[in-house]
Amino acid sequence: MSTDDVDIAEEISADAFHALDLRLRGAGDPDPVRRPDGSAWIARTRRLVATDGPGCWVAEADGAVVGIATSIRREQVWCLVTFAVRPGLQGSGIGARLLAAAERHGAGCPRAMLSASADPLAARRYHAAGFALHPHLRLEGPVDRSALPVVTGLRAGTEADREWLDDLDRHHRGGPHGPDHDALAADGDLVVAADRSGYAYASPHRLVVLAAREEATARMLLWECLARAEGSFLASHVTAVNAWAVDVGLAARLVLSTRGYLGLRGMAPPAPYLHDGALL
Ligand SMILES: CC(C)(COP(=O)(O)OP(=O)(O)OC[C@H]1O[C@@H](n2cnc3c(N)ncnc32)[C@H](O)[C@@H]1OP(=O)(O)O)[C@@H](O)C(=O)NCCC(=O)NCCS
Repeated sequence: MSTDDVDIAEEISADAFHALDLRLRGAGDPDPVRRPDGSAWIARTRRLVATDGPGCWVAEADGAVVGIATSIRREQVWCLVTFAVRPGLQGSGIGARLLAAAERHGAGCPRAMLSASADPLAARRYHAAGFALHPHLRLEGPVDRSALPVVTGLRAGTEADREWLDDLDRHHRGGPHGPDHDALAADGDLVVAADRSGYAYASPHRLVVLAAREEATARMLLWECLARAEGSFLASHVTAVNAWAVDVGLAARLVLSTRGYLGLRGMAPPAPYLHDGALL
């Protein structure tokens, strides 16, 4: 993938995920909406082409881009960021070739992570590539503000915190977020434990990523994100080992469901850790 491919890559990704939402829509679900504004996706992917060019691939047919895979390598961990094939061409082996190309960027990495959609084609592909699939629990809804506890020991994070954030990420994932902090900061505000035992990026509408040394800190951080919520809040990447987040979410009267998987190779599900869906 070159930077010239990023605009068409965004279109393919938006089309593929829209088609997936249509395909998996349940009776009574609202009409799925195609990604209305691709600018954040484009900005993030341009950064990835710059930092991890060998991990970013397109598939071409008759000179046209028909599929994409982007991935990053951060010390001991390789992460698949985005993976999509043009609707109508899925299920014919294009994805398998793209994934194999992107995976070469992670050659020698003992660990690998990806956040899988609910697409059965994706699950089949990842399983074949040796990933264990850990179901995502999902917490969503308006926060019952009467449930909010008093939270202490937190402060707003700054770029000066990134070094110890990276150490915490090494502990959980085997690699730092490093150059990905800019993209995480574009998606949410950073809140940190004053004693450097945890952090979270969150917008008023969703949790981006949360990491802590201990569950008590993780709970405080999630409560703080819920306190800052406006309207409906979503934490969509909770694995079963992070049952503390289910406790907090249900206490705040969010609604629990399941969708998609955390795919892992060479590692157990991290905790207390709620991963980002793209940069993990
Ligand atoms: C996931 C995706 C990128 C895979 O690309 P692809 O070209 O469809 O993948 P492949 O054809 O290589 O592999 C799909 C597998 O599913 C199988 N498959 C096809 N139709 C299927 C169906 N209806 N149900 C289950 N499996 C199916 C294929 O036979 C193949 O398995 P096999 O290699 O063992 O035969 C693509 O399907 C896609 O864009 N999906 C929507 C977006 C998405 O969910 N992306 C992943 C985000 S994590």
